[in-house]
Amino acid sequence: MRLRAAHLIGREAEVTELGESLRALNRSRGGTAFLVGEGGIGKSRLVAELIGSALAAGVRVLKGRSSTIGPMVPLRPLTEALMPLSRGGVTPDEASLGPYRPVLGRLIPGWSTGAPDQGSTVVLAEAVLRVLAFAGRDSGCLLVLEDLHDADTETLAVVEYLVDNLEQQPLMLVATLRSEPGEALSLAESAGRRHSAAVLRLAPLDADEVGRMIASCLDTEPALMPAEVLGQMWEDSAGIPFLVEELLQGAVAGGALVREGAAWRVVGDLRRNMPRALLEGAIHRIDQLGPQGRTLLSAAAVLGRRFPLSVLQSMTGADDRTLLSHLHASVAARLVAADEPAPDWYAFQHPLTAEALLAQLTPTARVALSQQAADAIETLNPGLPGDWCPLAATLRADAGDLVRAGRLFTEAGHRALADGSVG
Ligand SMILES: Nc1ncnc2c1ncn2[C@@H]1O[C@H](COP(=O)(O)OP(=O)(O)OP(=O)(O)O)[C@@H](O)[C@H]1O
Ligand SMILES: [Mg+2]
Repeated sequence: MRLRAAHLIGREAEVTELGESLRALNRSRGGTAFLVGEGGIGKSRLVAELIGSALAAGVRVLKGRSSTIGPMVPLRPLTEALMPLSRGGVTPDEASLGPYRPVLGRLIPGWSTGAPDQGSTVVLAEAVLRVLAFAGRDSGCLLVLEDLHDADTETLAVVEYLVDNLEQQPLMLVATLRSEPGEALSLAESAGRRHSAAVLRLAPLDADEVGRMIASCLDTEPALMPAEVLGQMWEDSAGIPFLVEELLQGAVAGGALVREGAAWRVVGDLRRNMPRALLEGAIHRIDQLGPQGRTLLSAAAVLGRRFPLSVLQSMTGADDRTLLSHLHASVAARLVAADEPAPDWYAFQHPLTAEALLAQLTPTARVALSQQAADAIETLNPGLPGDWCPLAATLRADAGDLVRAGRLFTEAGHRALADGSVG
C-alpha cells in the first residue's frame, strides 16, 4: 500500500485564500485561481482539500483533467467536467442558454439540438459560462481543471474567456498546472498581471513540514522519528512531497526503516532502495540535454550538489560560449539554478540529479573526473583558502589519492581548530 499523509501538511496561506474565494460564492462573487508548481509539489492534493470543503458547503463541484495519453481530444477537460450534469439529468433551460444552446453539442452530444453551431470559440465559451452559472444558481459551482499544461488550445481559449467573466457569477474556477513554460502558464501569468485571477505558486515544504509529513505517512509523531531519517529525507526530497513519499516507501519496503511500537528505527541504509523511478526520471531529463550537456553536468556532479563554473570550465576545457549555452539549457530544464548570492556558483535543483549522474559514471570515469576537479581547484585557488581545502580533500579521496587526501583533511582540521569552529 502506498504511504500517504493522513492530512494536508502546510499550505496554510493557500488554504485560507482558496477558502475565502469559496465563501465569496455565497455573495455571487466568482473568481479564478491557478495553482502552479512542479510535478509532485502537491497541486492535486491541495485541490482535493478544496473540493472537500466545497462539497461540505453544498457547492456543486465539476472536475475535468487534461491528458497527453491517447489522441488529443479537443475540449476534453471541459467535456469531462460537464458530463456529470448531463448524466444527472441537469439540462439548462432555454431561458438561461438562449441562442447559445446549439454550440453545446460540441461538448456534450446529449445536449445537441441538431442545429449547426457557429463554430466560434467565444460563443462556445459563453455557452460554457451560462451552463456553469445554471449549475451553480442555488449554491455556487466550483470548476476544477487539472493539468492545464496538457490542455488543447481551444480549452485554453475557453478558460481565458471564463477567467475574465466570472466576477459577477457564483462560479469559482481552479486550475492546476506545472511551472514549465508553455501556453497555459502564459495564460495564467497574464491573468495574474491583469488581476483577473490569483496565481498561487506552491513552494517546496520546509524541513519542519517534511518531518510532519513523514510522521503522518508513518502514523506517528515527528518526535518519535529518528533525526537521521528526517534529515536524510528532507535533503533528498528537497521538500517535494511526492519524493518524500517515494523515498519513505523505498526505505520501508526495503526494510531499512522498521516500526517499533509507536516509533520507527533505522536498521539499514536509507538510500539503498532509492526508487529506480526517481533516478530514471532524472536521467530522462538529463538525456534531453544531449551528450555534451550531459558530460558537463557529470563533471559538475563530481563537485557535489553545488559547483563553481570556473572549476567546471577548467576541468572540461569548454569555452565560454559552450559552457554558458549548456548551462542555460540546464537552467531551462530546471536541473540546475544559480546559487544566489554567490557569484560563479550553481547548484543542482535536486540532489537526485547529481546522484543519477554519478550513478551513470563508470568507476574509472569518476576517478578521472575527481582528479581533474581537484587539480582545477588547486590551480585556481592557491593555498586552498576556506572551503576549498576540504572540497579538494574529498575529491582527492574520490580519486583514490589517499595520501594527498589525508594531508588535505589534516590541514582542513587544523584550520578549523585554529578558527575555533571545532570543539
Ligand atoms: N501538503 C501535502 N501534505 C501531505 N501530502 C501531500 C502534500 N502535498 C502533496 N502530498 C502528497 O504528495 C503526492 C504528490 O502530490 P500531488 O499529486 O498533489 O502533486 P501534483 O503537484 O499534483 O503533481 P503533478 O504535477 O504530477 O500532478 C501525493 O500523494 C500527495 O498526497
Ligand atoms: Mg496533480
